[in-house]
Amino acid sequence: MIRDSDYEFIRKLVYDRSRINLGNDKRELVTARLNKRLRAINIASISDYCRFLQSKENADELANLIDVISTNHTYFFREEEHFKYLNQHALPELLQRRTAEHWPSLNVWSAASSSGEEPYTIAITLAEFFKRNRTDWRWRIEATDISHRILQKARIGVYKEEALQKMPKEMITAYFQKGFGPQEGNYRVRPEIAESVTFRQLNLLESEPPGTDPFQIIFCRNVMIYFDHPTQTELVNRLARRLVPGGYLLVGHSESLTAIKHSLQMVKPAVYRRPL
Ligand SMILES: C[S@@+](CC[C@H](N)C(=O)[O-])C[C@H]1O[C@@H](n2cnc3c(N)ncnc32)[C@H](O)[C@@H]1O
Repeated sequence: MIRDSDYEFIRKLVYDRSRINLGNDKRELVTARLNKRLRAINIASISDYCRFLQSKENADELANLIDVISTNHTYFFREEEHFKYLNQHALPELLQRRTAEHWPSLNVWSAASSSGEEPYTIAITLAEFFKRNRTDWRWRIEATDISHRILQKARIGVYKEEALQKMPKEMITAYFQKGFGPQEGNYRVRPEIAESVTFRQLNLLESEPPGTDPFQIIFCRNVMIYFDHPTQTELVNRLARRLVPGGYLLVGHSESLTAIKHSLQMVKPAVYRRPL
């Protein structure tokens, strides 16, 4: 088990850097994850690791610490309701407003994209919708995450079958290349989908995607649960400012914004909208 002073040191460092709030209930989880990191870099104890983190020459290790602490779990079509909502309501309406608003492209931000399943799901949903509606409207997806390691995986875009469980077979065939031989059991996102997503390392508490183009849709799902209340409030208000009027913010289904002061309208659970 981890010593109180070491836990406090790690807890504060992680909070200062990422605003991930590690309560006392996370001690066991943190210890297990730190031990994995210690084995990887051959350090004997958590106390030694804390000393290692304090030395200036090892400042880069902080990014690895955040990597092992944060939970990256995700899969294709997670919280499917959101994609149904896009198909049935948000996308038809945005497409209709497109000409009057002079929107050259549909801009979507996946703000905690993890290993890519979420932004690629968005890309597949848009590809299907745009094909059905025969529109030449362009789209671009900005996908950001704090973790360098997980973004590397996202850029490679190769997934095990388990990650695709929620997708019908025809959709898998249309949007993935099936691996053979040593790649048996792996599925690679097809280039036309991969090319519509730009991955970028970004700490949500420190910066925003470059440029001033507003987004019609922002996904910020299953990351706010790690932040404390003031941090959630600050983040939601910053995201709201990057939306077009009438733009959508989609949050995780366990991340209600009821306790947060913000200017968005709730459309349905986990779907919010900037007033028109
Ligand atoms: C559980 S995953 C969520 C993935 C996806 N949005 C979903 O709902 O399936 C949470 C992601 O948030 C990222 N994250 C944690 N703190 C962050 C921060 N301060 N800035 C940006 N990303 C952060 C983690 O690296 C992790 O990949």
